[in-house]
Amino acid sequence: MASGERLYREQVNETVSFLEEKLPSVPEIVIILGTGLGSLADSLENSISLDYEEIPHFPRSTVTSHAGKLLFGELAGKQVAVLQGRFHYYEGYSTRQITFPLRVLSLLGARFLLVSNAAGGLDPSYKPGTLMVISDHLNFIPDNPLRGVNIEEWGPRFPDLSQAYDPSLQELAQKCGKELGIDRMARGVYVAIAGPSLETPAETRYLRNCGADAVGMSTVPEVIVGIHAGLRILGIAMVANVNDPDNFQPILIHDILAEAKKAEGDFVRLIKEVVRRIK
Ligand code: HPA
Repeated sequence: MASGERLYREQVNETVSFLEEKLPSVPEIVIILGTGLGSLADSLENSISLDYEEIPHFPRSTVTSHAGKLLFGELAGKQVAVLQGRFHYYEGYSTRQITFPLRVLSLLGARFLLVSNAAGGLDPSYKPGTLMVISDHLNFIPDNPLRGVNIEEWGPRFPDLSQAYDPSLQELAQKCGKELGIDRMARGVYVAIAGPSLETPAETRYLRNCGADAVGMSTVPEVIVGIHAGLRILGIAMVANVNDPDNFQPILIHDILAEAKKAEGDFVRLIKEVVRRIK
């Protein structure tokens, strides 16, 4: 095995051992919280919280809207691990580094991944605040977290992505949204771009023509590793802004955070209900 992969595997295993000592039980579900969606963490019961700085080999979050905490606790009767603050390719990390926390949590025994993000809407029927259940993705980040020597104990060399987003979890999320009376629900394709610059009008038109309904700078690396690790995955994109190439408006981080704050209540209710009913 190449030395880079050997070192990575050693670091993952050290972090798994470190967390096994700290944890009262195995988390069944990993929840990754996107930009401005951190408040779900307040709903955890009997939780323990670790700053990323305390955890060996964890990358450091460089984005102020991401807290940088790993929480374990109970949510709606299930044991969950919550990554409050994630890492992005645009911060300078490789996608292998970005997905280090998820690899560790999958090896601890998690079986489900609920991954969220704030995204730009490309489907003109979307409104700010739409919660889009991700049905599929396009990876336009010029990296893949599985590039390099495959670690066979962790998963297959060529993971199948024909159903990366678990169809029954998509159904469940849409059903929960309906029953909770969340009217801005949708289902669509997410495209991940490298960032950190936002799209131009021409790029927006291109991404739409490629078949994407929402665009963001995250999620896809974690989903690829989640599939490799055998997790069942649900992705939710919170559409913060809708980008019309023919009437393009500035996309400002301040506005994205403000929209995320507004949609956060619905997002938290939806995730809690999905967690309660997941089997
Ligand atoms: N583009 C990319 N990422 C985003 C956007 C967007 O319009 N909105 C929120 N995250």
